[in-house]
Amino acid sequence: MGIMLTVQNAAATPAIIRREDYTAPDWLVPQIDLEFDLAAAATQVRAQLRLVRNGAHDRPVRLDGDGLTPLSVLRDGAVASDWTLVDGALIIPVMGDVALIETVVTLAPDQNTQLMGLYASGGLLCTQCEAEGFRRITFFPDRPDVLSRYRVRMTADKAHYPVLLGNGDCTGSGDLGDGRHWAEWTDPFPKPSYLFALVAGQLAANRDQFVTMSGKTVDLAIWVAEADLPKTQHAMDALKASMAWDERVYGREYDLGQFNIVAVADFNFGAMENKSLNIFNSRYILADPETATDLDYDAVAGVVAHEYFHNWSGNRVTCRDWFQLSLKEGFTVFRDQCFSADQGSAAVKRIEDVRILRAAQFPEDAGPLAHPIRPDSYIEISNFYTATIYNKGAEIIRMLNTLLGPEMFRKGTDLYFDRHDGTAATCEDFVRAMEDASGQDLAQFRLWYATAGTPRLTVRIADDRLIIDQRVPDTPGQTGKPPLMIPLRLALFDPATGTHGGDRLEVLTKARTEIALPAGSGRPVLSINRGFAAPITVETDRTSADLAFLSAHDDDPFGRYEAMQQLMLDTLVTAVQTGSADHDPVIAAVRTTLTNTALDPAFVGEAVLLPSEAFIGDQLEVVDPDAIHAAREALRCALGTTLSDHWDAAYRRHAADHFVYSPEAKGARRLRNVALGYLAAARADDAGPLAFAQFSAADNMTDRLAALGTLANGDAPERSLALHSFYDRFRDNALVIDKWFATQVMSTRADTLAVVEALRTHPDFTLHNPNRVRALAGAFSMNQLHFHAADGAGYRLLADLLLALDPINPQTAAKLLPPLGRWRRFDPARQALMRAQLERILAAPGLSKDLFEQASKSLA
Ligand code: BES
Ligand code: ZN
Repeated sequence: MGIMLTVQNAAATPAIIRREDYTAPDWLVPQIDLEFDLAAAATQVRAQLRLVRNGAHDRPVRLDGDGLTPLSVLRDGAVASDWTLVDGALIIPVMGDVALIETVVTLAPDQNTQLMGLYASGGLLCTQCEAEGFRRITFFPDRPDVLSRYRVRMTADKAHYPVLLGNGDCTGSGDLGDGRHWAEWTDPFPKPSYLFALVAGQLAANRDQFVTMSGKTVDLAIWVAEADLPKTQHAMDALKASMAWDERVYGREYDLGQFNIVAVADFNFGAMENKSLNIFNSRYILADPETATDLDYDAVAGVVAHEYFHNWSGNRVTCRDWFQLSLKEGFTVFRDQCFSADQGSAAVKRIEDVRILRAAQFPEDAGPLAHPIRPDSYIEISNFYTATIYNKGAEIIRMLNTLLGPEMFRKGTDLYFDRHDGTAATCEDFVRAMEDASGQDLAQFRLWYATAGTPRLTVRIADDRLIIDQRVPDTPGQTGKPPLMIPLRLALFDPATGTHGGDRLEVLTKARTEIALPAGSGRPVLSINRGFAAPITVETDRTSADLAFLSAHDDDPFGRYEAMQQLMLDTLVTAVQTGSADHDPVIAAVRTTLTNTALDPAFVGEAVLLPSEAFIGDQLEVVDPDAIHAAREALRCALGTTLSDHWDAAYRRHAADHFVYSPEAKGARRLRNVALGYLAAARADDAGPLAFAQFSAADNMTDRLAALGTLANGDAPERSLALHSFYDRFRDNALVIDKWFATQVMSTRADTLAVVEALRTHPDFTLHNPNRVRALAGAFSMNQLHFHAADGAGYRLLADLLLALDPINPQTAAKLLPPLGRWRRFDPARQALMRAQLERILAAPGLSKDLFEQASKSLA
């Protein structure tokens, strides 16, 4: 199959870009002046580039372009006619070492369905340039190591586009007298083209100010449609908290007089860190109790912080090439994780982050798309904004923090920012700064950057020693990998006293490590990978009694959570493999946790939740979705029934008479809604009235949506009433209607496939809004039970949708493909059905390179 495909598509197979082929740019562009004559149907872009030859060579100027036709090309003020277009790029011969090149192109923002470059969203015009969208706006060396000063003039109809925003400071504006007006923005900081942005439209601002640590006042504004202004305060509070946090924790101060954020409804990603003009998917800005859940509130704060933190880790120091993406993304995710941990419960934040890593990154690392956090090659860079680059990348920075300790780590980041400010750097530069600042040898640690696959530790206690073996599994193109440097936090508990002799940090460097146990003590209970200090899997010979002990006594909250999860997993895996399992140890451990009033309710809510069906599947040789669902439901029902008095008590104890936004109130809602889930599992018949009562009385989206989700999974007569009333109440709020779509497609009910098909033709479904597509297709593909329906209907449904979406928005389509690529994990019949859909996608005429790369790698 592989060979056939290569031969048939030989001419059309897209080029592979390799990290080892990096060369410095032939031409630099210290200054660019842009003029936009903005309108949705036709926008004219005039660009003046000051070009300087970089090094001794005689190559022409090559300016990337994607779908652009030059209307005119001037070289040093004179019309040039000796240019050519090669693969979309404009090639212009230049004799001297400097040149002034001017080009003019016309764009059609309202036809731009890919949402890359300049596009229309609602009545707005906005841009998205990372990674390679700037070449869809104007001809330019569109690579992150070409840094330029930008001056941008925008002209537009004043009625349609009263607000004109750009990067940097507004350096002029005026009326043209004919209903049109203009604004000029100048950004004093040289930046790569991917950080360019503009926005034009009817927007209102939530304005505030922040005084920096050196006493400079920054004007802050969050721009949204006027009606949404009341939903912007949480984002504003998060922005100010982020600015203060980066000063306090990293010593980094904001560097311009203005900071603007704009929310748009149609956006391929979560948000974008354009210099001083962040553009956000509105779902990560807008929040009020009526429409946003507590998780949404957390996500808003986390994403606002993330994009703000990029001002240093990404913008002031940017990436030399896209293979270095984790330099800015992994580091910035680590920074936003620490920020969020400092705002609320650090323990719960760590549990959530590990859950995300295990749900999104571990499967990637174990599948056909596995890659190191610094990849060696790609076809389409937008396919490499992955959980590996982001979440494993963050874990690798976290390990450096653990190995060096916070003080040396901070010395390292100071040195890194100092050395590389205003330049485009590499992952190697980061590690070298850490090494130079701390004096530690990180030679072996560097292997993390080059190694794909999740390392597996096997740990056992042999008499007087702890024996730890590490192995890195083979991944596509990587076999027989050497051991990694792994910071491992562990403690040895004495089960008799419930105490341990201290938290130890062992740094593993070899395939086998042996650690002497204290003499004379009995067999200890092992608390291992405490705090999840390393992104690994650990196999131990701990008994269910050991795990139950740790779930009650470990003083590391993550270790406590982890022991409970492991106990649950062991029970569920046994149930799937043998058809039955003893539920009692889990029930007893959950009872102990639930009745321990010293624990934070938010933590209890996380700890008593069963592992997801997908994560149970990850532990098995062959995933059997039906057996997993049955085993998990049986345990859920047993927990619900046996502990019903405790769930009832928790449900009543954590009721609130009105909504408050505080960590305590959030924790109470969390535990209460987990209890609701268990109560419903126990009393399938009268769960309806209870959930419906909560649904109807709720004064906030967290409680309303939790009740709706409970109803959506069952057969209670209140179910359809709730779904209809929810729709009617929120029909004008796209972000809430996304939840309405997602809730239904995630249902475990038998009719879910038919529901997904019906929603696919619902008048509110559109392939043009990425949030809506993800609410349907993204959420459905996470529904292990129904996406993996034995007749392949779920696979066909996803493939149909991706094929329809590809011509409209290939990036969003490609991001949704990986669940189809996990075929190796399933039985032969499902494997064949999944592969057939991947082959069908590959055979589609005119397939994008985005989808081609994902589908072809998934079949290999
Ligand atoms: N730089 C990215 C935005 C981006 C993502 C551009 C993909 C091009 C392709 C931004 O900083 C980012 O990482 N956004 C995340 C959210 C963040 C909190 C992890 C996103 O958009 O998902
Ligand atoms: Zn980012």
